[in-house]
Amino acid sequence: MTLDGLSVETKADERLIDLLLRTGSKVPHVCYHTQLGPIQTCDTCMVEVNGQLVRACATTVSGGMEVATKSPRADAAQREAFDRILGNHMLYCTVCDNNNGNCTVHNTTKMLAVEHQKIPFKTKPYEADFTNPFYRYDPDQCILCGRCVEACQNVEVNETLSICWENAHPRVLWDGGTTIGESSCVSCGHCVTVCPCNALMETSMIRHAGFLTALPKTAMDGMIDVIKGIEPDSGYGAILKVSEAESAMRESRIRRTKTVCTYCGVGCSFDVWTKDRHILKVEPSEGPTNGISTCIKGKFGWDFVNSPDRLTTPLIREGGKFRAASWEEALDLVARRFAEIKKRTGPDSLAFISSSKCTNEESYLMQKLARAVIGTNNMDNCSRYCQSPATQGLFRTVGYGGDSGSIRDIENAGLVIIIGSNTAESHPVLATRVKQAHKLRGQKLIVSDLRKHEMAERADLFVHPQPGTDLIWLSAVTRYLLENGLAKTGFLNQWVNGLEDYQRSLEPFTMEFAAQTCGLSVETLKQIAHMIAEADGVCILWAMGITQHSMGSDASTAISNLLLVTGNYMRTGTGAYPLRGHNNVQGASDHGAMPNFLTGYQSVDDPEVRSRFENGWKVKLPSTKGLDNHEMIDAIHEGKLKAMYLFGEEISLVDSNSNLVRDGLSKLEFFVAQDIFFSDTCQFADVVLPASPSLEKEGTFTSTERRIQRLYQVLEPMEGSRPDWQIIQDIANRLGANWRYGHPSEIYREIASLTPLFAGVSYERLEGYKSLQWPVAADGTDEPLLYTKQFAFSDGKARLFAISVSKPTDPTDAEFDLHLNNGRLLEHFHEGNLTYRVEGIREKVPDTFVEVSPETAEERGIQSGTWVQLISRYGQVRVRALVTDRVKGKELYMPMNSSESPVNRLTSSHTDRVTHTPAYKETSVRMSVLPENGESPLPRVNSRFGHPTPQRGVEVERKWKRPDYRIPGTELGRTGPKSR
Ligand code: SF4
Ligand code: SF4
Ligand code: SF4
Ligand code: FES
Repeated sequence: MTLDGLSVETKADERLIDLLLRTGSKVPHVCYHTQLGPIQTCDTCMVEVNGQLVRACATTVSGGMEVATKSPRADAAQREAFDRILGNHMLYCTVCDNNNGNCTVHNTTKMLAVEHQKIPFKTKPYEADFTNPFYRYDPDQCILCGRCVEACQNVEVNETLSICWENAHPRVLWDGGTTIGESSCVSCGHCVTVCPCNALMETSMIRHAGFLTALPKTAMDGMIDVIKGIEPDSGYGAILKVSEAESAMRESRIRRTKTVCTYCGVGCSFDVWTKDRHILKVEPSEGPTNGISTCIKGKFGWDFVNSPDRLTTPLIREGGKFRAASWEEALDLVARRFAEIKKRTGPDSLAFISSSKCTNEESYLMQKLARAVIGTNNMDNCSRYCQSPATQGLFRTVGYGGDSGSIRDIENAGLVIIIGSNTAESHPVLATRVKQAHKLRGQKLIVSDLRKHEMAERADLFVHPQPGTDLIWLSAVTRYLLENGLAKTGFLNQWVNGLEDYQRSLEPFTMEFAAQTCGLSVETLKQIAHMIAEADGVCILWAMGITQHSMGSDASTAISNLLLVTGNYMRTGTGAYPLRGHNNVQGASDHGAMPNFLTGYQSVDDPEVRSRFENGWKVKLPSTKGLDNHEMIDAIHEGKLKAMYLFGEEISLVDSNSNLVRDGLSKLEFFVAQDIFFSDTCQFADVVLPASPSLEKEGTFTSTERRIQRLYQVLEPMEGSRPDWQIIQDIANRLGANWRYGHPSEIYREIASLTPLFAGVSYERLEGYKSLQWPVAADGTDEPLLYTKQFAFSDGKARLFAISVSKPTDPTDAEFDLHLNNGRLLEHFHEGNLTYRVEGIREKVPDTFVEVSPETAEERGIQSGTWVQLISRYGQVRVRALVTDRVKGKELYMPMNSSESPVNRLTSSHTDRVTHTPAYKETSVRMSVLPENGESPLPRVNSRFGHPTPQRGVEVERKWKRPDYRIPGTELGRTGPKSR
């Protein structure tokens, strides 16, 4: 095509705006954002194509096009469009917190060399809205570009925002016109991130980013008046120079550092803007997983880092109390006691627990300390509490214990099945991609869960099986598919072993048996089977609703069996996706924090593996599997385990049957807990060591997609605290190890040298936003989608794995008549040690609660706010009720986030039979209603009480229909641009 008279090579399906950006053309574009696509609200990108005015963002290039970006018509249109924008936005850049070099309005004013605006700025008849703790909206500064609406409607798909185009003074609306605080807004921050100016801004930026922005309002207003006063004479050019000087000065004190989110396993990455220790904002943009996306925790959940109750000095227990100690004294004591106990009762009387919150390098060092320095395989991490059964199911059937593909592959599925996962709250950014594909691209969705959560509400088919019966219906559906000619026979013949044995094992799983056991109709089960058979690619997503059962490994296996029988592996849009909970729960297991595996799932009982590590580490290694977390607690009670070293893990609250666990911890002869706060677990310790959170250190995390990403140090470690890897190294060296790691990159070099799965991982290959998805070959080739050539077994074939009928433990009876389910909440993470220290999050969810169905509430006279006592066979808690139809009949649900009323006082010690993952989801309780009524545990400002307003996007056509709308650059009528 021809661009301003020059010949330019086009790319297939390229947007004209992208071509203009690629070739460096100076065409304004205010509403266009590459991750949002064309919104077409600003009209600033007008160009002439073959003599006709068009919006470049809405035009696809084609060969032979003649494009003029600087013709008088195009130029006039661009200027007129931008002039309208300035009529909606007061330029006061020098005293604006958004004056950071990236303000689109400022930069476009400069690009177009606007000296005087023709359309004067007019205020709008609305107040700024400060009712959300994390961000505010200023209608006066809003240029009505609609980016925020597009992001909320079609990226986050929370569907809160719209613009009232028909109104005399259009503005952005929350839930059609309520305050932000009382709307359905989930505070994900997408809208704030994409706002091209200061109309939406993080509260943490306001009065902090600029040199002059903290001035009293009267002084600011005075300065703005002065600027407005000189503008007619001096023009904007001179004024912008002043603001640019101020903006340049900011660079000397504002740092932007890339990190990876510390919360869930989705693996969002973003820049953190800081001024000294003040976090100005989190800015997602180019993360390989999330792009512009975050959830409330990743975007706004960082106040805990500067909490005044951070641990800043080691503590030693003395006479039943803790006293402050120096690092030297504390580390010496730890090393001395570990050595004494090892000498007296042997290495296997010590145990080590790594953290899924900490880095891969730290897990590696912890297991190296356990194995190479102490000489025990008693090493585990909290994947034991959630994900081990999923890993087991995949080990049995396809070979690798990780998600089959990337989130992109889930987006490409014709049908997504979510089982036992509240994805929108537990893995919010991953859920956005499913919501998008479902809303915009016709993807089908089946949800199986006990609760009618957001994904269930959105599903094409929502099923509610009896608790603990997923294995049954999954196997029955698989049998039906096999027996009715709906299996993928060609795929099975070519790629799968064990069909005959497996088919025999399916004998008990008839449709009738499943219908009766699961409480689902045969028709529903057949409907599921046919939806699977007809779909162009099926991805199954599951989480703790499957794994935290006594048959968690078998149910995970059943999922993978179903996928194999229907040929749903080996290509995009297919596969098994166990959604990893913590930010680095995948990485902790990958990097050897397990009782039976060294790094990369290399077995401790394999002599070849051991000898490689023995040569590398220059020690003799133990060869028998060590104790897992669950067995460690039993071993303490049996008097076999004497000492434990744990970091970044709240075991006393998050392990099941917490009364038994706490009792066990208090029996330890010597217990070292390392954390950033004095956690509940710390109270059982003999030595407490103050660690640093992710923002204060370097390293790598591995997300649910098997994606390894680097985090860079955003802040110096808070004075008195130290990064975990340094503490572990100090202890190892006091025990004679002589480790000399100066930086986590050196640790990773060692990991890569010993681990075929990570052979090609290096810090250089992970620079900035680069990432690798394991397995990574020595030349750096990674595998975003697994099994494209073969399965991970020696013959390259997958294996169907026979399973049998299994019943859940801890059933309801006349005394314990209610089933108690438990899990995550959007706002808090896990037990809440981090998120309860974020004031805005506490405002949204101050405390835990138990969800009670309307039926049970009516039967027992319960209202939201009524205090109840829940009593299980193992313990009891007092908690407020929340009446909601998310739960049904005699089923209750408690979020896991509370240290005062932890749900694990109620859970049992039953476990998955294969992996010892606690059967958290198999708990029966009775409920006594207490004679106290409080306020509803969820305040009105929680997003659950809002009323979203779904629409297809910003609906710009409604703007074009306004009687006062005219295509810029045209005198009359509205026959201007055409989308091509
Ligand atoms: S949910 Fe709230 S924070 Fe997220 S994009 Fe919508 S309005 Fe913005
Ligand atoms: S608030 Fe929304 S519509 Fe207004 S300028 Fe920001 S992104 Fe555009
Ligand atoms: S979705 Fe998960 S990784 Fe992403 S911002 Fe939220 S908590 Fe962090
Ligand atoms: S960039 Fe706004 S209409 Fe094209």
